[in-house]
Amino acid sequence: MKKSILLLLVIAAFISNLSAQININIIQNIKARNITSLDGKWHYIVDPFNTGEWGKFHFNKIQDVPDELLEYDFSTATALNVPGDWNSQKNELQYYEGIVWYQRDFFVHPQPGKRYFLNFGAVNYKAEVYLNGRLLGNHEGGFTPFQFEISDKILDGDNFIVIKTDNTRYAENVPAENFDWWNYGGITRDVVLAEMNETYINDYSLQLTKDMKNITGYVQLKGTQLAQEVTVQIMEANLQIKIPTNANGRATFIFPIKNVEYWTPEKPQLYTIKILSNTDTATDKMGFRTIETKGKDILLNGKSIFLRGVCLHEENPLIPGRPRSKSDLKMLLSWAKELNCNYVRLSHYPHNEYMSRLADEMGLLLWEEVPVYWSIDWENSITYENAKQQLSELIYRDKNRASVIIWSIGNETPNTDARYKFMGDLADHVRRMDTTRLVSAALLGYIDSTKTFRLNDSLGNKLDLICFNEYIGWYIENPAAIPQYSFAIDANKPVIISEFGAEALGGFYADTATRFSEEMQELFYKNQLKLIAGIPALRGTSPWILADFRSPKRLNPVYQEGWNRKGLITETGKKKKAFFVVKAFNDAMEKKYKK
Ligand code: GCU
Repeated sequence: MKKSILLLLVIAAFISNLSAQININIIQNIKARNITSLDGKWHYIVDPFNTGEWGKFHFNKIQDVPDELLEYDFSTATALNVPGDWNSQKNELQYYEGIVWYQRDFFVHPQPGKRYFLNFGAVNYKAEVYLNGRLLGNHEGGFTPFQFEISDKILDGDNFIVIKTDNTRYAENVPAENFDWWNYGGITRDVVLAEMNETYINDYSLQLTKDMKNITGYVQLKGTQLAQEVTVQIMEANLQIKIPTNANGRATFIFPIKNVEYWTPEKPQLYTIKILSNTDTATDKMGFRTIETKGKDILLNGKSIFLRGVCLHEENPLIPGRPRSKSDLKMLLSWAKELNCNYVRLSHYPHNEYMSRLADEMGLLLWEEVPVYWSIDWENSITYENAKQQLSELIYRDKNRASVIIWSIGNETPNTDARYKFMGDLADHVRRMDTTRLVSAALLGYIDSTKTFRLNDSLGNKLDLICFNEYIGWYIENPAAIPQYSFAIDANKPVIISEFGAEALGGFYADTATRFSEEMQELFYKNQLKLIAGIPALRGTSPWILADFRSPKRLNPVYQEGWNRKGLITETGKKKKAFFVVKAFNDAMEKKYKK
């Protein structure tokens, strides 16, 4: 067997064994399985003093006799919508941070030989989950999915779930106590009940090899019948391979491809993937592309590209709140498309899974990130394990998304030894989990006495790209001063300006020297884009930010009122003057890289 194919099989086997080492117990693409949605109205109890712990709210007690003393009652409590944050649903909860108990009933007739799983898209920040009064488990981290098998706890007929959620900020959390976005709490993404066969397809990965000639990957079964033959089909390309699983239910494979069109933002070709075993079938939609760097270039399918991007928070400004539906997410990505973006930085935490699936369909390349943001408890090993777990859950969830090209391990973190160790280890962890994508982080630089922006962050050596945030002309002087500045970035790697931006209150028109005016923001971008276009290794830009977003740190009563106004679009969806400056830049870059 040719040496290269042997090597690829060894790598595939190594990668496939890796997910076993990180405790990710999640059925891949569960939404495409036999599921029942548990979204909708959930009763809730706000519990700032954690009374429910002592009061054993998880038993969901109902008063049996009139003289029974019961100081809580979910059945008569008001309800919140799930998915959705509590802050945007109840005025009195807008600023609330703390414990909220959720409860709902569901009815099911469990079938013999079937297994049952509860899956949560995300709960911010901590979740303690009970089924019929029994603890299923806990999850920490507000932006990644988690799951519990309930086959041994589910009842025939009425069942009830109680969840203690808590978005209290602590120094040892990830993110920690200080961040520039709204700390939306609650069950912010879908909840589903899945019915699976005894032995089922738990996980799979398909990737185009770097030589763009083969597809490599693995299938992992779970259950008792682990030794089976599985078939992997790429329907529209008429490709299939049959492979035996080993004693652990794992099959790794590599097979040559023909008539497969590579995925690009311009032509986001997706294929229907079918994975069949004797006891289960899984389907998915995937695109195939390679991404790598070569010197100062970023190569997509071997061709140099420019990332015409924008940053995005997972917030629907029209609510304002966490997006509550696919159409909310589609609206945000459509705005990015109107800006002529081929790339979006999903900041600063893992966004909804639908976002990466929509980006696959719409043709947008993605930067995905974990909330290792500003100051984190760098020397705390529990904090490190938490960050690593969030990263593992994100990579596990989105590893089959063609749109995702960059894993970011953090944003604007201090250049200290403890941080270097923490984030250096995270970078190594990403590379152990995924050898097919780029690793990065949003770094900070400094301005020397000659108004030259420089970087001297040792973490850069661990990363595939040089990405940094700079606010010359907003936090440093003003837009008119921008032409006095320059950049000295001498890395032989592609450079992405991961953030640059200025604030404007939508509809406030004045001269270019007036803060928060649309004219000042417009001048900021005119001067910034002229300046950064001069950086030889510039291969991407993501202005901060697509739309105004809620932040408890933005307190100017006239211009901000709890909003960060750096959006190119207002909170009502209106494009600011600067939007068109950035669009013109993207149009020019599209033309330049089309050649
Ligand atoms: C920082 C940070 C963002 C923040 C932005 C701002 O760079 O990464 O989260 O919102 O600057 O100041 O507006």
